[in-house]
Amino acid sequence: MSKLRIPTAEAFAPLLQPSRYKGVWGGRGSGKSHFFAGLLVEEHLRFAGHRSVCIREVQKSLKQSAKKLIEDTLQKYKLGEAQGFKVWREVIETPNDGLIIFQGMQDHTSDSIKSLEGFDRAWVEEAQSLSDRSLSLLRPTIRSDGSELWFSWNPSRANDPVDMLLRGPVPPSDAIVVRANWSDNPWFPKVLEQERLDCKENQPDRYGHIWEGEYATVLEGAYFAKHLTQAQHERRIGHVAADPLMKTYAFWDIGGSSSRSDATAIWIAQFVGSEVRVLDYYEAVGQPFDAHVNWLRSNGYEDTICVLPHDGRKHDMVYAVTPQSFLQEAGFVTEIVRNQGAGAAMQRIDAVRRLFPQIRFNEETTAGGRESLGWYHEKKDPVRGIGLGPEHDFSSHAADAFGLMAIYNNARKVDDGWNDGPIVRGLKGFA
Ligand SMILES: Nc1ncnc2c1ncn2[C@@H]1O[C@H](COP(=O)(O)OP(=O)(O)O)[C@@H](O)[C@H]1O
Ligand SMILES: [Mg+2]
Repeated sequence: MSKLRIPTAEAFAPLLQPSRYKGVWGGRGSGKSHFFAGLLVEEHLRFAGHRSVCIREVQKSLKQSAKKLIEDTLQKYKLGEAQGFKVWREVIETPNDGLIIFQGMQDHTSDSIKSLEGFDRAWVEEAQSLSDRSLSLLRPTIRSDGSELWFSWNPSRANDPVDMLLRGPVPPSDAIVVRANWSDNPWFPKVLEQERLDCKENQPDRYGHIWEGEYATVLEGAYFAKHLTQAQHERRIGHVAADPLMKTYAFWDIGGSSSRSDATAIWIAQFVGSEVRVLDYYEAVGQPFDAHVNWLRSNGYEDTICVLPHDGRKHDMVYAVTPQSFLQEAGFVTEIVRNQGAGAAMQRIDAVRRLFPQIRFNEETTAGGRESLGWYHEKKDPVRGIGLGPEHDFSSHAADAFGLMAIYNNARKVDDGWNDGPIVRGLKGFA
């Protein structure tokens, strides 16, 4: 029998040995899919009765599966019925009662997943979309002797389940994970090279994600994206509980009450020693002021100290009273952080960056706010390419309120007096 030669890029060589978990992450066109398809076919030729399942989180039709790629691979290596391979509409038969099937995890229940027990390989394509539930279903199911779980993906966020599993601080001991990009692919095709160059030219902000495998939120010019990734990897985003003995603060960015006005954003936090515990996040557009107050009350924050930016004292066209007096009448203690003057936005950004290593986030309740923090970025002059300060968009409100928290934390250390320094205090009921 003639020898089958499967040309393999060097980047994938570590994955040719057995391992419980195998992962390849990176940008488009790195050869991830071709590599695993080749390895799968090789194994089905090598091991009689081998059984594999090719998985996606969502698979509405077989067209979205790796089936076509595996068929192409069989054709390329001239593997057909004579060698024991037979392509059916839904499955591929392989030598000695072996089988390759194609499934979407979202079609599985905890019962139906049992049909995959006894499978030797599960290969998850586009694994950045894999949900926590799917990963938790899959891991114990694929458990026969010598079975392996393979993942190929272009990372989206550091807290996606596959990234947490294979690129987090403590990956499973039996895991081999490699990074592969277009530059590692000796067969990188010309058409993709053109696409790549166009992307670099026209979508420079997205290039790193699409082609180099960087997280999608790490925009060029993002102020806090790296800090968030760091927090994720240091497990500072997780279950964070309030300390019942400590004061709780609500840091506000005040929007308007019309549907076209800016959002109102609130972060709930506690200062516990040097640690900042971020417990909750709230955002609303076009709501009357008492909707915000209702949120505070109905979430158990009726005793929080409301910290407002300097415009909290101003009369807005839309409110009959100032936000500060409204809150005071509602029974809240309020504090105002004085206007930081010119460069206020950059001061807030610097303060947040300095404070970040001390911050812990309660994962479940702060997702929306963290998303904004990850997106908050510098606006660039498209012609001269110079920075124009923070872009004002959906993310600014969460970022401003978060910045207020950092400024307040700094001020808290130096100023505990009344009405001097950057903070103005008002007692409960004080008008
Ligand atoms: N082993 C290989 N032999 C020949 N061409 C390959 C091989 N691996 C990748 N390629 C080429 O590189 C392109 C990108 O590979 P692919 O596996 O689709 O990348 P990814 O899944 O990382 O986006 C393929 O369309 C194919 O043209
Ligand atoms: Mg692919």
